[in-house]
Amino acid sequence: MPLTPVLSRYWDDPESWTLETYERHDGYRGLRRALDMPQDDVIALVKDAGLRGRGGAGFPTGMKWSFIPQGDGKPHYLVVNADESEPGTCKDMPLLLATPQVLLEGIVIAAYAIRAHRAYIYLRGEVVPVLRRVQAAVAEAYAAGYLGKNILGSGFDLDVVVHAGAGAYICGEETALLDSLEGRRGQPRLRPPFPAVAGLYACPTVVNNVESIASVPAIIDNGVDWFRSMGSEKSPGFTLYSLSGHVVRPGQYEAPLGITLRELLGYAGGIREGHTLKFWTPGGSSTPIFTDEHLDVPLDYEGVAAAGSMLGTKALQLFDDTTCVVRAVRRWTEFYAHESCGKCTPCREGTYWLVQIYERLETGRGTESDLDKLVDIADSILGKSFCALGDGAVSPITSSLRYFRAEYLAHLGAPCPFDPHRCTTMAKELSA
Ligand SMILES: Cc1cc2nc3c(=O)[nH]c(=O)nc-3n(C[C@H](O)[C@H](O)[C@H](O)COP(=O)(O)O)c2cc1C
Ligand code: SF4
Repeated sequence: MPLTPVLSRYWDDPESWTLETYERHDGYRGLRRALDMPQDDVIALVKDAGLRGRGGAGFPTGMKWSFIPQGDGKPHYLVVNADESEPGTCKDMPLLLATPQVLLEGIVIAAYAIRAHRAYIYLRGEVVPVLRRVQAAVAEAYAAGYLGKNILGSGFDLDVVVHAGAGAYICGEETALLDSLEGRRGQPRLRPPFPAVAGLYACPTVVNNVESIASVPAIIDNGVDWFRSMGSEKSPGFTLYSLSGHVVRPGQYEAPLGITLRELLGYAGGIREGHTLKFWTPGGSSTPIFTDEHLDVPLDYEGVAAAGSMLGTKALQLFDDTTCVVRAVRRWTEFYAHESCGKCTPCREGTYWLVQIYERLETGRGTESDLDKLVDIADSILGKSFCALGDGAVSPITSSLRYFRAEYLAHLGAPCPFDPHRCTTMAKELSA
């Protein structure tokens, strides 16, 4: 399958991020077309194209827009989720650094379609260079008449506010994000009501991922058939696959949905020399891991689900034969325990216990009953937590136990077979 650079097609241009570069590459042509269409036709076009949300869940974007009630007399809001904090997920930040204008064009089109006059970009605050770049892009777009009053003489007004988050992974969950944006502590909200009915300031709100919104201008400009000529019936289009870890050329590879890891590795130079692929995540640390048996799984929503995982954010983290799976999963588990917002008991307590068990396992003090406890605690979290962070926390645990039980067993009562020196030292320190 060939690569299909659309969003990333001129990332290597000098000063790819300026408005001038963007306009040279037909920037804002999709917006001109959209503003000539009735709003409902814009929604119908995105629906027909079959664009699915790139933030992890794959919910159809056009359908989400169509849920916004019309003629309700309330303000409507568009919120762009640029909080990108999942371990391994690294597509939105490079996209914003390289081409922030494509997001802004998508924002104006989406806001026009759902009749919103204010849009927010909730951006991961620690990534200061990206924050500055997006702020500068917004200023450039205002100065050129793409934002503000009477955009391109259409009579449509839109203001965009860039909001820097304070570094909590849970604020990427859309309802926690809305609470955070309102100035409260970021914790998930009970649903219903869903954001489309009562979102930001209890008004109808669409929350979409950066890549979802950035994909819209090309769809409007090139049409439904063009978009559907890539990918599959249920997962059409192009997307960014982020390859990281033990790969020769890590980076963003933009390809049709349904490409396989084997094909992507062909473009990325393969696993580093002298080593073999041991395990990988198809969509960030919240998605069950795969092994070298899964190199030919089509990386679309249906293909990955049929093989027992989730496409998630298409963050392909690759680990070779030098990696200890227990140690890698322990790191992820520590992350989830740290980021658990504490609102519900299974996740708050469960992730804390899981970390204790992984500490014992990695330092050679674990027992076989600890492995049963991992399964038992994971079962108490999965599907019983308030939000998807809990489910994500146990994905690497249950999947790694499925594929690498023997490696867990090799850790019982013995130092880690992959890094014995480090683990023996840790065990000594702990017993001292
Ligand atoms: C713990 C957690 C963190 C999340 N972080 C993000 C994030 O950083 N960016 C994002 O777009 N979606 C994130 N999501 C998914 C959002 O809740 C939501 O589904 C998404 O923003 C919807 O956009 P989309 O329909 O365009 O995919 C997260 C979900 C959870 C449970
Ligand atoms: S699952 Fe975890 S992060 Fe989500 S609400 Fe419960 S405690 Fe908070």
